[in-house]
Amino acid sequence: MPGFDADDEFLGQVTRRLEGWLTDDDAAVTAGLLRLQETAERDAPLVEIGVYCGKYLSLLMASANRTRSRVLGIDTFQFKDLASVTSGLTALMPDLISGLSLHAGSSRELTSESLLAMLGRPARFISVDGSHDYADVLHDLRLADAAVAAGGLVAVDDFLNPLTLGVNRAVNVFMESGPTLVGVACGPNKLYLARPTYAGFYREHLEQHLLTTPAGRGERFRTRLATWRGLVEQDFFDSPALLFTASH
Ligand SMILES: C[S@@+](CC[C@H](N)C(=O)[O-])C[C@H]1O[C@@H](n2cnc3c(N)ncnc32)[C@H](O)[C@@H]1O
Repeated sequence: MPGFDADDEFLGQVTRRLEGWLTDDDAAVTAGLLRLQETAERDAPLVEIGVYCGKYLSLLMASANRTRSRVLGIDTFQFKDLASVTSGLTALMPDLISGLSLHAGSSRELTSESLLAMLGRPARFISVDGSHDYADVLHDLRLADAAVAAGGLVAVDDFLNPLTLGVNRAVNVFMESGPTLVGVACGPNKLYLARPTYAGFYREHLEQHLLTTPAGRGERFRTRLATWRGLVEQDFFDSPALLFTASH
């Protein structure tokens, strides 16, 4: 089974060179979580709603390449056009581009049935980072809940970001509505969710990673843990979530 491996070289040579929004901690943790799930749902596809230039998507593409999975990116391409996004990704990842399909359109036009039909089978990883308006995010979270595989993960961008009130409201309403997803962890700018049967698996490996990472998020995690476990693990809608935020 692959370990929790942060993929520093790929992050430096590809992901950091793409325009977009992604903290180093969320990038490294996502890369590690993707490595970890590569045996659990081997051939299952990966999805991102809200591609922009493909910064976060590059991590999904790297993982998909290792498991011969497909990646579906969904975006309105209202800020960056489809052709320039495709050529930017091709330039940096010529060997990975054949595994990618980009769908131009609003995620609001998709139903769980149409998304699953596009995917062929439930996804092992879904990133929710499209529209940040409340109703749109709630819709996207429901799509993710319907389309993620049993051992899959959902990453929700901008949860707890004070500039994205719609995301925060949508996450809280979604979690109160009794979804089949629970919290795994909360990072600097992403919330990670999984099915209840797999959440503990991801949480335990992530904690091991944080306990053994020399500086930065690892050091912060250990310092807080030495003070009180409640600073690194809290109840999130009746399930424990690990906290590795940079602030406070
Ligand atoms: C914050 S950016 C995504 C950042 C990206 N994930 C990254 O790694 O940098 C949000 C993206 O969502 C797209 N978007 C906005 N509304 C959308 C919708 N209803 N459906 C799909 N994409 C949407 C925008 O065009 C934009 O590219």
